[in-house]
Amino acid sequence: MVKKIAQNISLALLIAFCILLSGCELTQNNSFINQADSPSYAYLAPTPPMGWNSWNFFAKDIDEAKIKAVADAMVSSGMRDAGYQYLVLDDAWMAAERDDNGALQADPVKFPKGMKEIGDYIHSKGLKFGIYEDRAYRTCQSLPGSFGHEQIDMATFAAWGVDYIKMDSCSAEGNGRLSSEDYAIFRKYIEETGRPMVLSISDFGNAAWVWGGKETSQLWRTGWDIRSNMHSVYNCGDTSGGSNRTHPAFNGLWQFAGPGYWNDPDMLQVGNLKIEDEKVRASANKAHFGLWCMLAAPLMAGNNLAEMTETVRDILTAPEVIAVSQDKRGVQGYKVFVDGKLEVYNKPLADGTTAVLLLNKGGEEADITVTWEMIGLSGKQPVRDLWQRKDLGIFKDSFTAKGLGEHGNTMLKIGRKGKPLPTATPVPPEKYTITRKGVTSLSDLYYAWRDNNAPVYNKTFGGNPIKIDGKTFEKGFGCKSKATFMFAGTERADRLMGTVALDESYQGENEGRFRIYHEDYFGNRVLWDSGKMTKDSPAKEFDIELDNYNCLMLTFDGRNIKDGKRANDVLGVFADPRVIADD
Ligand code: GLA
Repeated sequence: MVKKIAQNISLALLIAFCILLSGCELTQNNSFINQADSPSYAYLAPTPPMGWNSWNFFAKDIDEAKIKAVADAMVSSGMRDAGYQYLVLDDAWMAAERDDNGALQADPVKFPKGMKEIGDYIHSKGLKFGIYEDRAYRTCQSLPGSFGHEQIDMATFAAWGVDYIKMDSCSAEGNGRLSSEDYAIFRKYIEETGRPMVLSISDFGNAAWVWGGKETSQLWRTGWDIRSNMHSVYNCGDTSGGSNRTHPAFNGLWQFAGPGYWNDPDMLQVGNLKIEDEKVRASANKAHFGLWCMLAAPLMAGNNLAEMTETVRDILTAPEVIAVSQDKRGVQGYKVFVDGKLEVYNKPLADGTTAVLLLNKGGEEADITVTWEMIGLSGKQPVRDLWQRKDLGIFKDSFTAKGLGEHGNTMLKIGRKGKPLPTATPVPPEKYTITRKGVTSLSDLYYAWRDNNAPVYNKTFGGNPIKIDGKTFEKGFGCKSKATFMFAGTERADRLMGTVALDESYQGENEGRFRIYHEDYFGNRVLWDSGKMTKDSPAKEFDIELDNYNCLMLTFDGRNIKDGKRANDVLGVFADPRVIADD
């Protein structure tokens, strides 16, 4: 048995790292997140939405009987009273064809009485009705999508009494519209119906926090689909709470969430996890649920409520853990300590106390310590265990959870009621947004979103100086295999210039292609395309006129010359990519 004590030194390193990269430090910020800049419909989700969604357990296999059984179970299990209000029917509720008027209709075999009847049933149980659609011409299950039918679909949903819409993005690259444009259309037609309906962006984490998801929606996915294993759960958690989707300087996406708009690392797999050992399974379920509460993630249960065990029910309905998620201050929690697989998260609450999660993501038993310094406290502080609902006593300077095993975790509330505690300082917009007059090197900014391999700043991927035709470039990015990353922008920019080439050190035959987009993939607004390049291709310069853009996405895509499949070895460089703003 290996015991490991998390030491203060790691915190010092984390903070030093944070300050080095972003200038972030703990400051006094007593006010709740300012809602002045939130759209007026932020009231639709002042705290992270809670409910149940059919996909994680039933997938396509839903019907009237199953959904009604879930609605009944939401009430009888105490889920509704614990705060879960939305019952959301995911993909595959609809018929393969629209009706003669072009309206969506229920699958006649699964839901013979139609969707309004299901909605009425859901409402009769004191619950709210959620439904799934896709913004392209077909859904992820190849059923009719909303593209070209946005107005009639929103009107149909309103007529059925829908309260929540999960709007997916499979095939949306065929829409020819930017994501921000697509979702603005839905928001407009939702508002036209006069029915308040939550809009949940489902887009595999395509940077809604950069291109302005909160202008139209209350929540947006931060990553790919969650699966029923802890590797996937932690991966999804790190799309929102870690650096899977953004530059490490941000320490997760916490600064992009607040009352009315939320980062969504995907729906819960609590109760679906396939882990043999009962004790480890219970720890894993708690770790998953506690983490989602700390991250102010939407709490959409995804297990079969009609057959849930008591242990799972107790986890999903734990009142003091849910209270952390639903805290009205709406601060998304963030990491204050990382040492390998041991993590500490902090979520300052409205009442002046703070919620802390000590989490062992690894397989070896360990002790984890939270020091008051990590969470903006000092001296003697009361500590309460939120799972056990028990005061643990008064502790000076720190608290150690002993012997946390695989997925072992402790969720605490620390401190006394009073003035709200400080949060970490967000990365200021000018560090990730092109705002300056004159020349801005993109490598002086943090990317605010990425997919695939992270680019290396001001070096090749292998860590060497960037060189093209004997000339060394101080600024730029080194990329490997596939790299996609995005910078937030403003209209204040005239040109984007730079040079691309395969990295000198790459001597293989495979190809690399560089592309620059306005916004994300879905809009396919390619501003520049290098075409396929090999090690023998001369470097290519780009000089693009920018007009009315809100973010720029740079991609490098390495392909195997023989079969066109992804090549894992190709290296490329963006040399001195820079934006020029004339006035
Ligand atoms: C996508 C979404 C999932 C689910 C399925 C349904 O994969 O990300 O959450 O809605 O589609 O087909």
